[in-house]
Amino acid sequence: MKNIHIAIDGPAGAGKSTIAKRLAQEIHIDYLDTGAMYRALTYHILQLNVDVEDEETIIKEAEKIDIDFNNNCIYLNGINVDIDIRTQKVSNNVSAVSKFARVRELMVDKQREIANGKSVIMDGRDIGTVVLPKAEYKFYLDASIDIRAQRRYEQLDQNMDIEELKRDIANRDKMDQTREVSPLKKADDAIVIDTSNMTIDEVLQTMKSIINEEEGE
Ligand code: CDP
Ligand code: CDP
Repeated sequence: MKNIHIAIDGPAGAGKSTIAKRLAQEIHIDYLDTGAMYRALTYHILQLNVDVEDEETIIKEAEKIDIDFNNNCIYLNGINVDIDIRTQKVSNNVSAVSKFARVRELMVDKQREIANGKSVIMDGRDIGTVVLPKAEYKFYLDASIDIRAQRRYEQLDQNMDIEELKRDIANRDKMDQTREVSPLKKADDAIVIDTSNMTIDEVLQTMKSIINEEEGE
């Protein structure tokens, strides 16, 4: 089979990573969580107590650090940071760190390098628009803010106030959608799936039927 690239974009809690992981397993191709890369850099910056608006230092660090994936786990300078990058502190600061042009350039180069010469599913914010503009399949997953906040609430094993969580998600969406460099937006040729009232299996079936139809299976 020829190599295929599948781009999945959308706001926080739309179901991108859950669906991307399942789809990758079912159709036997690699999965790359690009958000994890921005999260790893943000975690590193917070560990160093660097201000998230300090563009010069952030760029220096982004050029220095080593971000790698092994068996779907993310490693920062050789250390597994799967858990550390999912804290609310990282979530609340990641959009600030991700807005810098040079940071994005470094991440996008690495993502394209990973995708080169093989089939891959990538999820993020700018995959269909910037990272893989020629991807064979582009999906834009969305859901209402209430549903996305509820999903996150259920995911997080901590006593969070759901209204606060909703505000945090809405802030992050806004920063991601309004930044100057590669903002979150639907690619012109992406298929939109509103997952608000869909189960994970239903979303998966919808995507698989679109892919199978075009692959002639
Ligand atoms: O899983 P969740 O939707 O919470 O977020 P994520 O995919 O882990 O992405 C975390 C953050 O990284 C986003 O809010 C963006 O600020 C940034 N990001 C980005 O700018 N571009 C990407 N391709 C992926 C993530
Ligand atoms: O990656 P993204 O931030 O877009 O979302 P996610 O982390 O994949 O999904 C957030 C949560 O919503 C997960 O716990 C999923 O199991 C759940 N989910 C759901 O309940 N129904 C869907 N149709 C999609 C996701």
